[in-house]
Amino acid sequence: MKDILQELDARRAAARLGGGQKRIDAQHAKGKLTARERIDLLLDEGSFEEFDTFVAHRCTDFGMEDSRPHGDGVVTGWGTVNGRMVYVFSQDFTVFGGSLSETHAQKICKIMDMAMQNGAPVIGINDSGGARIQEGVASLAGYAEVFQRNIMASGVIPQISVIMGPCAGGAVYSPAMTDFIFMVKDSSYMFVTGPDVVKTVTNEQVTAEELGGATTHTRKSSVADAAFENDVETLAEVRRLVDFLPLSNRERAPVRPFFDDPGRIEESLDTLIPDNPNQPYDMKELIVKTADEGDFYELQAEFAKNIITGFIRLEGQTVGVVANQPMVLAGCLDIDSSRKAARFVRFCDAFEIPILTFVDVPGFLPGTSQEFGGVIKHGAKLLFAFGEATVPKVTVITRKAYGGAYDVMSSKHLRGDFNYAWPTAQIAVMGAKGATEILYRAELDDAEKIAGRTREYEARFANPFVAAERGFIDEVIMPHSTRRRVARAFASLRGKKQSNPWKKHDNIPL
Ligand code: HXC
Repeated sequence: MKDILQELDARRAAARLGGGQKRIDAQHAKGKLTARERIDLLLDEGSFEEFDTFVAHRCTDFGMEDSRPHGDGVVTGWGTVNGRMVYVFSQDFTVFGGSLSETHAQKICKIMDMAMQNGAPVIGINDSGGARIQEGVASLAGYAEVFQRNIMASGVIPQISVIMGPCAGGAVYSPAMTDFIFMVKDSSYMFVTGPDVVKTVTNEQVTAEELGGATTHTRKSSVADAAFENDVETLAEVRRLVDFLPLSNRERAPVRPFFDDPGRIEESLDTLIPDNPNQPYDMKELIVKTADEGDFYELQAEFAKNIITGFIRLEGQTVGVVANQPMVLAGCLDIDSSRKAARFVRFCDAFEIPILTFVDVPGFLPGTSQEFGGVIKHGAKLLFAFGEATVPKVTVITRKAYGGAYDVMSSKHLRGDFNYAWPTAQIAVMGAKGATEILYRAELDDAEKIAGRTREYEARFANPFVAAERGFIDEVIMPHSTRRRVARAFASLRGKKQSNPWKKHDNIPL
């Protein structure tokens, strides 16, 4: 009996060594942790329960039958993050470069199936040379099995991808279909075709880092939602994110204890809006001052900075925030900001997370590059996302809400539940100067007359009261009481039930 127990111990020890000490050392030398070290940091101490420790590949080509390491290059199982269950897979670069074989894929699929069945998020740690070259189409089939599960799981359980090494070729499409992608600076990259293929086909000379590193994907392509300095920081941030999310679409997001008075008054907000309507201010100040304990978890912070997206808590409950940022492009909506915010709004709606929208938007960004790039379709994504969302929606207009952008930004007309405005709000088709120049074109040569017309327009429209008279604004509120008003609004909406007409699925303008 003792011998049998010892054999299990020996097999486990071999599995823990993955591709061997030499390759583990090489992994460490690159500043990367091993698959198991990453799981240890991601999950609560001692909570990891492994599946399929002894799975081995079945390939007999290219001498593979002589090397059948336990686990086949991926560690899978489940554990907890601050006491809440998550499923995890972590690719082991020390075993055939973390490449995906038929059995490696089956291990991932098994935990994805269990996550769907039991209602818990899947966190995938990617560090892989892609399809296991020796296995050919069996490996490609394995990827497609994972892709199909990503699609079925979308909107059912949160899916988080952590890129901690290479992720190339078709392999990038699994993370691409998950809800959030985090990368590690300088040690992770994602691309469909690597620098060598790019050189051959387009004659462009580019490094892996430039082509698909963390900076590229958080600033240019927006493929990734955030990037951090190293493995340790990245995994700590994944834990922080998980704390905001429900385990599945069958459950509500967790309610955390809070030590911040929901009725807290913030006098400083009364002077947030500058006297000059063209002067910017930092919308993040409003978000932070509204949130419980000033805790704001921002996503896509480096991309389309003219719109801000992320999570806060109000009375301990998760709330998704979408806010125009007057500091960048005057807070205009454009292609990138519309796409960024639309995807975020749809995530919140899919997982029953209420949405708070702060509005200061002078309109859509004009120009040929926007029109040629399809701002009509992209802007429509955000409009569509807000309009189809059935979660509690509270909107506060702080200053400008002009033109179509007024409608788009979770207006009353898109089934906004509480639409508040500060007294500094200006809700109109456009700003006073532009409006008078169109309406009184014949008087343009007379500066004094035009100035008078502008004042007249401002007096009539540069305020929230015309909209409030019609009930499009439910109440004009004091800036200092924003946290209290918004928290009470969401509290009153906890029983909200709204549904859309039956359909197979919608046809959002992609
Ligand atoms: C089998 C692989 C492998 C792979 C790496 N290895 N990639 N084994 N299949 N795809 C093995 C190496 O042979 C090596 O084994 C070990 O992993 C580490 O690899 P190195 O090259 O020594 O490491 P490094 O220098 O860090 O380079 C990492 C790398 C490189 C950039 C990932 O290995 C590489 O370019 N690999 C091939 C990538 C690729 O073309 N994959 C297919 C993409 S197409 P030893 O025994 O020496 O330790 C694809 C299609 C997916 O993935 C389709 C889905 C629809």
